[in-house]
Amino acid sequence: MVKKILFVCLGNICRSPAAEGIFNQKIKERDLENFFVVDSAGTGSWHVGNLPDQRMRTTAFSRGIELTSRARQIEENDLYKFDLILVMDKDNLDAVKSLNKNHKNTINSKIKLILSYSKNSQLDEVPDPYYGGQNGFDKVLDLLDDAMDGLIDSLID
Ligand code: 4NP
Repeated sequence: MVKKILFVCLGNICRSPAAEGIFNQKIKERDLENFFVVDSAGTGSWHVGNLPDQRMRTTAFSRGIELTSRARQIEENDLYKFDLILVMDKDNLDAVKSLNKNHKNTINSKIKLILSYSKNSQLDEVPDPYYGGQNGFDKVLDLLDDAMDGLIDSLID
């Protein structure tokens, strides 16, 4: 069975495209590409149609990950289309859950903080790097790299 996974942040130009890129790279390395459909989206609409932020693209590229997605805004239908919706922070969690107009528990249970899969970090949230410096972008990639290993392990069990 193919699993459909959606990564979500605020703008869909920093954290969630990075999550998508790292996840895609890891499933490619493990020859698992045929088992997943992967996408990302933002809760906001400001950057719709844009490539990921240049700082995020450069930082990811230095780790061998090319980010080529175009930003889009999450819509209610995504809650039905995807099996797992992984958000970066608690604001994203509230925003995505608020799209669940039917208040179905089955839907809320597939919306999770990505760092709940983290192996080595105690943080709950991936900090928004947009208004900060280079360290923030490196931190995002470090946190996501660790969480993706936990995520993939949980999905292939
Ligand atoms: P992201 O980062 O949610 O990780 O894509 C942000 C991108 C843009 C803005 C905020 C956060 N913004 O305010 O435009």
